[in-house]
Amino acid sequence: MTDFYDLAEKKSVGEIRKLYPISGDFFDNMNLSALAEDVPMADALEKSDPEWLQELGTDTDGVLEQFCEFMEALTSPQEETALIREITIVGGHDKNGMPEKAELTVKPGEVISIVGPTGSGKSRLLGDIECMAQGDTPTGRRIRINGEFPDEETRFELEGRLVAQLSQNMNFVMDLSVRDFLQMHAKSRFCEDPESVAEQCYACANDLAGEAFDISTKVTQLSGGQSRALMIADTAYMSSSPVILIDEIENAGIDRRQAISILTRQDKIVFISTHDPMLALSASKRIVIRNGGIAKVMETTEEERASLSVIEELDDTIMRIRSMLRAGEQIIPGHFAVPAAASSDEA
Ligand SMILES: Nc1ncnc2c1ncn2[C@@H]1O[C@H](COP(=O)(O)OP(=O)(O)O)[C@@H](O)[C@H]1O
Ligand SMILES: [Mg+2]
Repeated sequence: MTDFYDLAEKKSVGEIRKLYPISGDFFDNMNLSALAEDVPMADALEKSDPEWLQELGTDTDGVLEQFCEFMEALTSPQEETALIREITIVGGHDKNGMPEKAELTVKPGEVISIVGPTGSGKSRLLGDIECMAQGDTPTGRRIRINGEFPDEETRFELEGRLVAQLSQNMNFVMDLSVRDFLQMHAKSRFCEDPESVAEQCYACANDLAGEAFDISTKVTQLSGGQSRALMIADTAYMSSSPVILIDEIENAGIDRRQAISILTRQDKIVFISTHDPMLALSASKRIVIRNGGIAKVMETTEEERASLSVIEELDDTIMRIRSMLRAGEQIIPGHFAVPAAASSDEA
């Protein structure tokens, strides 16, 4: 947590305003805008007319205290979570109690895929990361943050801030339009210009979604693919969480490659559980889960990377067949089983 007392001792009102635009609300509401802008806030308060503070019904300490409370309640967790340098998964045991001989450290900017049969424990691993497990989940795994096991207090403080999760099911409770939903979210994340962030986010979501949708559509009326696309764009543009967990996005009818590249543009740690070869291989490492345990951690080799382009072509082919079927066309082998260059799309 930022020590706002410390901030007030070191930075002037002007500097604080720049660092935390939201602080402007506090200074304006408290009529503190007359405070000297060029000396630390605490000094400026000390030097100000005590009568003036009395009129405000407070004193120097009172103002500082209220300032800290205000800032703690309203600043975005961004700067805290930006402090995550690495997270480490320390092995527990599989479903038979056999120890996992795994310890894996992941740094911002890395994408890790999680593969394994259905029911093997992929979602469980994501869950362990999300709750920063400390031997208190069925796997007995423990998570280190920046090399240390977080204590209860840190765990509590980071809860809901560390991780943004894109899960298999999206449920919108409120019946807002896409525009209102995004703007509301942008505001709650203290975006400078919520309207334009919402617009950008919508454009990105629309791009990702197979079927286009209007910004005035109600979120509850979006298809599975559209709402997934919206959540991905929302996470990419507005989430301050340093870790993103994605549980099987393959069948959502969205542009998966683009989704991953959007999510990894920022320096985040991305874990993605998947059955999709293309997603699995676009990660730098993959965790192989078997019977609830981490069986292996594999680096994606150069050779595998090279085959990625072949897999992408195959994937494009499947996508083409899919859209041909959707469009009511007949599937004729020669029309799709060709590399993208000779694609029948433009024909
Ligand atoms: N190491 C483990 N020990 C005990 N139960 C586990 C372990 N790993 C996973 N499970 C349980 O196995 C079930 C299936 O796991 P899940 O993560 O949903 O599989 P997947 O996502 O790969 O389909 C869940 O109930 C999960 O809690
Ligand atoms: Mg699962």
